[in-house]
Amino acid sequence: MSKAAVMTGQNQPLEIRTDVEVEAPRAKEVKIRMGASGVCHSDLSMLNGTMFAMPPIVLGHEGAGVIEEIGPDVTSVAVGDHVVISWVPQCGDCFFCNKEQGYLCENANAALASGGLLDGTTRMTSGGAPLSQMAAAGTFGEVSIVPESGVVKIPNDLDMKVAALIGCGVLTGAGAAMNTADIKPGDVVAVIGCGGVGLNVIQGARIKGAGEIIAIDMNETKLQMAKEFGATATINAAQGDPVAQVMEMTGGHGADVSFEVIGLGPTIDQAINMIRRGGQAILVGVPKMDVMIQVPAFLGVVLNEKTIKGCWYGSSNVQKDVPKLIELYKSGELKLDELISRTISIDEINEAFEAMETGEVARSVIQY
Ligand code: APR
Ligand code: ZN
Ligand code: ZN
Repeated sequence: MSKAAVMTGQNQPLEIRTDVEVEAPRAKEVKIRMGASGVCHSDLSMLNGTMFAMPPIVLGHEGAGVIEEIGPDVTSVAVGDHVVISWVPQCGDCFFCNKEQGYLCENANAALASGGLLDGTTRMTSGGAPLSQMAAAGTFGEVSIVPESGVVKIPNDLDMKVAALIGCGVLTGAGAAMNTADIKPGDVVAVIGCGGVGLNVIQGARIKGAGEIIAIDMNETKLQMAKEFGATATINAAQGDPVAQVMEMTGGHGADVSFEVIGLGPTIDQAINMIRRGGQAILVGVPKMDVMIQVPAFLGVVLNEKTIKGCWYGSSNVQKDVPKLIELYKSGELKLDELISRTISIDEINEAFEAMETGEVARSVIQY
């Protein structure tokens, strides 16, 4: 039996269950003893109803651990390997994977929507009842089973807390800047929302050679962190319209590239309105289902030739991008230790959600 934090209903505190049974991995699945898990805003989004959830469910999708057991036909990893969990288990052979857009993998998408693994079923139970697993993972548990395609092998000496963050916030944020957007050296980049994901957009933009990086948030602590991660200017969105301020900073032209990294209608509008003619607005934050994009077709998009582009999982090819990000971390270009505001035990998960809502932390990370 093992321990896991379980969502039992919308906006209910997670329950710490100690009676979780994890069955043996099936074909092309691996059992993982979790080393660490980040607490990401998407976990909170599932809990508060922004994203659809199927309780009872083990939340958590930003994790790293050690392979404890492998199922039949597993060939790419072995017992004892250290791995990062990829919450888009990229099958490698569907319509999208064959177009080198594995982050849109249709098999992964079906799993995500099912609350289970690739076959739609789950490997965890508590009190005899099945537990769903968020994003074919469920990293808020000491032990989990994930698809083989949902892990990426990492060096054994990489700190588990750092590795966990790579699995979502870093792949998504740095990937948004390095893969999804087309940032040219010298570009003016604006980032709205400087949480765990937004800070990684900032450092991805820095690595891509952006000339100016304008960080926008309502929280001064986050704006200070943004500077440490590479922002060259900050705007406190609580003190006036960020669009007007970006326009002023760019001689009335607007930013070359903007990123929305919160998932709110008004900030999505801001991201679109603050780019220059010919600019790109990259939408990273996950909005509620009923949020609409309102933009005049001619004056807003055609005449100004604006690109409005969604970003899912940082457009990442996880098998290539995780090693690349680890190299950037080792060379000192990618700051990962600095993202960890708090190290907690799984018993403190509900406090971690509170800290996220008050904006105190970039990331709380559970150490198992
Ligand atoms: N204007 C500016 N900043 C804001 C606003 C606003 N109106 N509202 C919130 N923020 C800031 C918060 O102060 C915080 O710093 O947005 C940041 C959000 O950060 P986190 O809560 O840490 O969220 P994060 O984990 O970074 O995820 C951001 O990306 O992957 C998605 O689902 C995730 O939609 C979420 C988004
Ligand atoms: Zn696929
Ligand atoms: Zn996440």
